[in-house]
Amino acid sequence: MTEKVTVLGAGTMGHGIAQLYAQAGYDVYMYDIKSEFLEKAMTRITDNLDMLIQENSIAASEKESILKRISTTTDLKEAVSGTRFVTEAVSENLPIKFDLFKQLEEVIDDDTIIASNTSTFSIQQLSEGVEKKDRLLITHFFNPAHLVPLVEVVKGPETSQTIVDRTVEVLRNIGKEPVVLKKDIPGLIANRLQAALVREAFYLLDNGIADAEDIDLAITAGPGFRWAFIGPLETADFGGLDIWKSVVENLAPVLSNEEKIPSFVEDKIQSGNLGTKTGNGIFTYSGDEEVRRRILERDENFVRLSSIKNNK
Ligand SMILES: NC(=O)c1ccc[n+]([C@@H]2O[C@H](COP(=O)([O-])OP(=O)(O)OC[C@H]3O[C@@H](n4cnc5c(N)ncnc54)[C@H](O)[C@@H]3O)[C@@H](O)[C@H]2O)c1
Repeated sequence: MTEKVTVLGAGTMGHGIAQLYAQAGYDVYMYDIKSEFLEKAMTRITDNLDMLIQENSIAASEKESILKRISTTTDLKEAVSGTRFVTEAVSENLPIKFDLFKQLEEVIDDDTIIASNTSTFSIQQLSEGVEKKDRLLITHFFNPAHLVPLVEVVKGPETSQTIVDRTVEVLRNIGKEPVVLKKDIPGLIANRLQAALVREAFYLLDNGIADAEDIDLAITAGPGFRWAFIGPLETADFGGLDIWKSVVENLAPVLSNEEKIPSFVEDKIQSGNLGTKTGNGIFTYSGDEEVRRRILERDENFVRLSSIKNNK
């Protein structure tokens, strides 16, 4: 019998995670509070699969069987009956998550894993809403979840090692590259590194050092080009630790240490320019059509990069 897994919340992250399970051969139940959200999620999954077919990442003949492996429901009991792995991807709101955990624990088996996709709550905070704390952990996916390989795994003081091992195995089964943190820390690994870089990028733009296009290009054509294959620590080894001693000691005192978002970004937020979701942000987009095209281009490039990385 095919193993059943459940994804709670069918939004930006949930639909992509459900798709991954279905692609890997699991029977997935995707649960949300309204059927219209589930319908929208299925449309997004269908579009994602069409793009993967176009990029020769999956065969056209696989599409229908992948879609058939996804069931949708607004009935929590139906969603979790017989499941041993639940991914929670509902809104980033603690009372909502706690309320759901409470309902969940009334209907799941004792050995069912609860893996939260939270991006800002610590495992300590989350565990306050769970009775049986040994089966709770964080599995932090990256957007778009169906394409970015990394998943950060955070265990709490009470999470059992068996649960961590089973989770890592499930994540590898769906083609992900899990990283298990030894300690919980705000922002985990990837968002801490990313935030340090984005703060400096905002600083460079704010101080007129270069145009936004060129600041981005300095990363995509420079360090970012290397980072898909060698991380910052291996880069330091290749460059020489003596060199990196000078780089860090000479630059650290002049890097931005701002704790607040710069006012030019705050102004954009206040005027409703939030980026692609509102049509304008740091960059200007000509309308919905251009935004759709840019997202598609981004995703196609991610698929191509995956193929190169996987030597496909
Ligand atoms: N968006 C990202 O880039 C990103 C990245 C990593 C992690 N996360 C985390 O993933 C989780 C989901 O984020 P998202 O961006 O997909 O949010 P989203 O708003 O796109 O989707 C959340 C979904 O949860 C549903 N929902 C709300 N309450 C519910 C309930 N009680 N039961 C079932 N479904 C419910 C909503 O209807 C919605 O469809 C959050 O914890 C977020 O912090 C998001």
